[in-house]
Amino acid sequence: MSLAHSGPQLADALTIVRLSLHVFAACVWVGGQVTLGGLVPTLRREAPAALTGVARAFARLAWPAYALLIVTGFWNVAAVHASQASSAWNAVFWVKMALVVVAGAGTLAHQRATSASLRGAAAGVGTLATVGALVLGVALAG
Ligand code: HEM
Repeated sequence: MSLAHSGPQLADALTIVRLSLHVFAACVWVGGQVTLGGLVPTLRREAPAALTGVARAFARLAWPAYALLIVTGFWNVAAVHASQASSAWNAVFWVKMALVVVAGAGTLAHQRATSASLRGAAAGVGTLATVGALVLGVALAG
């Protein structure tokens, strides 16, 4: 009887730290946007004066999370030996990088927009790109 395991394996300690930080930052960046987006109509109705302060407070959490995603993202690239990846993995990686840029640019444009329609459109583009980056991240993790 062979003792070799071919089923699920536990991740090693460094992989747990690396992916936990990446996924935690994604939770704050993505989850925060979705949650804040869902709360805005209620805030606008019940406490319109608080809206700007709440948005600024969220930005103070979201941008450090975005920075952590990029730092841990480079850590991921180094750890998975991306130079040996298949061309499909590389293609998905570069699409994900484009979505990460669009997510950041859309969120920045949303914060800076002066008209309501532009603000809404930028938020939509930013959130869609972020969710796309998340799904492609899961694909990259294999
Ligand atoms: C909006 C920004 C980002 C989001 C939401 C995001 C999300 C994710 C998620 C959810 C995973 C899957 C983790 C798992 O299943 O264990 C992942 C994996 C990965 N991400 Fe990101 N990510 C972002 C930015 C980045 C950046 C900037 C890079 C590269 C510089 C990057 C490189 C990777 C790589 C290489 C993996 C695979 C890791 C592995 O197989 O161990 N990500 N990402």
